[in-house]
Amino acid sequence: MRLNSPKINIMHKACMKASKSMIRDFGEIEKLQVSTKGPGDFVTAADKKSEKIIIEELLKAHPDYGILSEEAGEINKDNKNHRWIIDPIDGTMNFLNGIPQFAISIGYEEKGEIISGIIFDPIKDEMFFAEKGNGAFLNNSRMRVSNKKKLKDSILVTGGPKFGSKKREEIFKHYVKISNNVDSSIRKFGSASLDIAYVACGRFDGFWQWELNYWDIAAGLVILREAGGYVDFFDSNQKLPNKKNIIASNSNIHQELKDSLLKKNIE
Ligand code: IPD
Ligand code: CA
Ligand code: CA
Repeated sequence: MRLNSPKINIMHKACMKASKSMIRDFGEIEKLQVSTKGPGDFVTAADKKSEKIIIEELLKAHPDYGILSEEAGEINKDNKNHRWIIDPIDGTMNFLNGIPQFAISIGYEEKGEIISGIIFDPIKDEMFFAEKGNGAFLNNSRMRVSNKKKLKDSILVTGGPKFGSKKREEIFKHYVKISNNVDSSIRKFGSASLDIAYVACGRFDGFWQWELNYWDIAAGLVILREAGGYVDFFDSNQKLPNKKNIIASNSNIHQELKDSLLKKNIE
């Protein structure tokens, strides 16, 4: 790791510890005990194990810091100045089905602003991380968004709709609309944090998705910005933790992607 920041080091240590058990579980996927949390949202025993390890490690470093984690919810709720935002496995469906595309995502927030973050893919051993003002890194190398200039030439990725989403039809209309504006077909990889990380390192040129949660994107926000990318939201009337509809891309295609998504008559 090149970025010698105390916060990154803490998150890195937590990721490394959790990923060991996650890799073991992924190798024995069929033996995992699976419980149902709600439609379309399965939580594995591995998910909970990973979360426990991460939280223990973060609390060891800063017992008083706030935590918002997908499964465990809020810890040290009153600490508004320092907070970790955790998704212990982002890409649970992939994990559950033995598809090696999932990540641990941890963001660190100070007074409501994400200052640093890590997205770690334990299978490919890829650590995407950044701290505000210090650039973004993929393992030991500095990373940057792509230089693609036009939406038409871009490779885009998206996700959703979630099972039971009320926006289902609208989301599919967006998909068709954007598909008609690009030469390559759109990708769906099933891990929003990795989708953003891949835009940050230039593999994809842009990403959009409706109805995400804060833990899906928290780390990605700072990583993408530090890599020279642009993050925006369709639901601009909301304040950050409640913004759910994201556009993330290199800065060249951003406006074109946004205009295409926001055009009223999506027929
Ligand atoms: C999901 C993934 C997926 C996205 C879903 C998320 P999870 O997170 O990020 O790519 O399409 O909206 O809920 O449930 O695997 O942590
Ligand atoms: Ca997630
Ligand atoms: Ca998750």
